[in-house]
Amino acid sequence: MTNAYDLAHKRSLQDPAGFWGDAAKEIDWYKPWDQVLDASNPPFYRWFSGAMCNTCYNAVDRHVEKGRADQAAIIYDSPVTNTIRTYTYREVQDQVSRLAGVLAGLGVVKGDRVIVYMPMIPEAAFAMLACARIGAIHSVVFGGFAANELATRINDALPKVILSASCGIEVSKVIPYKPLLDHAIELSDHKPSHTVVLQRPQAVAEMQAGRDLDWADAVAKATPAACVPVAATDPLYILYTSGTTGQPKGVVRDNGGHMVALKWSMKNVYNVEPGEVYWAASDVGWVVGHSYIVYAPLLNGNTTLMYEGKPVGTPDAGAFWRVIAQHKVETLFTAPTAFRAIKRDDPDGDLLKTYDLSHFRTLFLAGERSDPDTLKWAEDKLKVPVIDHWWQTETGWAIAANCMGLEQFPVKHGSPTKAVPGWDVQVLDEGHHQAPAGQVGALVVKLPLPPGTLPTLWNADERFLSSYMEEFPGYYKTADAGFIDEDGYVYVMSRTDDIINVAGHRLSTGAMEEVLASHPDVAECAVIGVHDTMKGQLPLGFLVLKAGVKKPEEQILKEVVALVRERIGPVAAFKTATIVKRLPKTRSGKILRGTMQKIADHQDFKMPATIDDPSILEEIEEDLTRIGYAKARPEAE
Ligand code: COA
Ligand code: AMP
Repeated sequence: MTNAYDLAHKRSLQDPAGFWGDAAKEIDWYKPWDQVLDASNPPFYRWFSGAMCNTCYNAVDRHVEKGRADQAAIIYDSPVTNTIRTYTYREVQDQVSRLAGVLAGLGVVKGDRVIVYMPMIPEAAFAMLACARIGAIHSVVFGGFAANELATRINDALPKVILSASCGIEVSKVIPYKPLLDHAIELSDHKPSHTVVLQRPQAVAEMQAGRDLDWADAVAKATPAACVPVAATDPLYILYTSGTTGQPKGVVRDNGGHMVALKWSMKNVYNVEPGEVYWAASDVGWVVGHSYIVYAPLLNGNTTLMYEGKPVGTPDAGAFWRVIAQHKVETLFTAPTAFRAIKRDDPDGDLLKTYDLSHFRTLFLAGERSDPDTLKWAEDKLKVPVIDHWWQTETGWAIAANCMGLEQFPVKHGSPTKAVPGWDVQVLDEGHHQAPAGQVGALVVKLPLPPGTLPTLWNADERFLSSYMEEFPGYYKTADAGFIDEDGYVYVMSRTDDIINVAGHRLSTGAMEEVLASHPDVAECAVIGVHDTMKGQLPLGFLVLKAGVKKPEEQILKEVVALVRERIGPVAAFKTATIVKRLPKTRSGKILRGTMQKIADHQDFKMPATIDDPSILEEIEEDLTRIGYAKARPEAE
């Protein structure tokens, strides 16, 4: 054991307090911790208990005080509005402290919740940092969700204020946000006392006198607010993510452990030095956006890039290369689906040849499984290391990666390499025993989880326990299945629950089934994720209609597609459903979604021993063939 990775990984597991206590020296604290790791109430582990700190101070103010005031903190590059604008750390401090002053003026104090419903503009980052500055807990809601999803989050988080913008821009489509926001507030039982809305010229929002404030006006008039010391264990944010029902899970992130882990990851996982330009091409509405558009690069004194555009269509598949060349980006982090889209439009990488990418060093991919073809294409065209890494909303940062700042291991295509220091990743079989190398089982992490991971779910300790901690006592259940090979490389193969991954977006088929089941003509339904060459997976719905329904089937199908869009949002990409006579089930009545998915995707499958009526699978096969998904035959017994 001689390499830096092995040493770090071993120490992090044998002496977590020493390891993370050292890493914590990179953060400025108002008061040091009593304990690095408080293990007094497992599985509710707490990091840096007793310490006082402020995340905004560490991300912004300390850089202004210590020599980075005039360095670019945020570059906003928006091909959809034809805008490029740079904000220095000093300018970010000014904007953030004023916005924090607006919130304080509206009565927001430490511990209050603020929902942020915004597109990919710098004000979204200002909003998050302004909350952090005064100890308010932000909850960012992705713009592609419908009013109903926003309302669910309002009812759970009970925000005092909502920060928003008049619209988002999707390629050339202007999506007015304010009507969605108004509708969500109408739908929710809880009413925020105020909204602060940034008017964008592409769509001017109608404001409700007394409740809605104009962002620019309010910020111009505000008295800047100072950073408020908070406990390291106080929540910084809540980020809702898909669970197995329509009720999303509010993943909580703390302040102290989060800062320590993210700061550590910038050097050790991404090999990024302060001052460099770092670009995570994601959205502030997702965990990647929280951790690697906003917090980690700013904590590390980098220039972070906020890109309001797509990998293709804004204007073409050369958009990423243009941004990398123009802003001298050293490190890019995005989802494989973005590269599949680029590869589809420019298979030979012709557009790449027109840009100077000589300073570009590493591409990181996460959010979904990196298919080896896409990974090889990126390696071949970019001629830099392409690093797959595995993580989840819950974990906040990478569980497995090729830690470029520690030791660069040979890439094995299809594997995100090894467990990152801090993570004791294991594979357990059905009997909860450690599986031998190469055998697929449940991917779990031995407790305690490292800093920066979820301490619990918002107001839902019981759900935290039942979702993650109960099935494998002493371990965190990732709900991913996979294996670890004889060299310690982790392979993440599939989810063990009903979550599907559509264009790097995590969605619950259970939530879609709840929507389909609410249609008056639907007796029963199932949603599965089928393979898609660009988005990775797409949802596909099966409906069994109630007896005696007279309405034309085509119309019902259109209605359910519209219903999912209206209730969950366009991001669900639910475009295909089919009507079947019956659904295949086990004798105990469980719908055989896994078998249906295998049939749809041409995969071999074993006839489930508990199937009630095997002939239904033939009907499903015929139906899938009719709508363009070919069939596969069961393996001979
Ligand atoms: N606000 C409003 N609507 C949004 C939205 C937002 N922030 N983001 C997406 N949508 C809408 C899209 O306009 C689209 O609507 P449509 O059905 O009317 O066309 C729908 O939601 C689906 O969007 P998306 O899944 O993004 O598909 P797309 O076809 O527009 O683009 C990609 C496909 C691959 C180019 C795109 O998904 C992409 O850039 N992915 C990058 C991956 C990523 O950022 N992952 C985040 C985790 S790392
Ligand atoms: P999210 O919470 O949206 O980040 O989604 C997390 C899920 O995405 C994980 O549980 C995995 O199923 C999947 N995922 C993320 N990154 C990877 C990866 N590198 N390889 C395989 N699956 C991944």
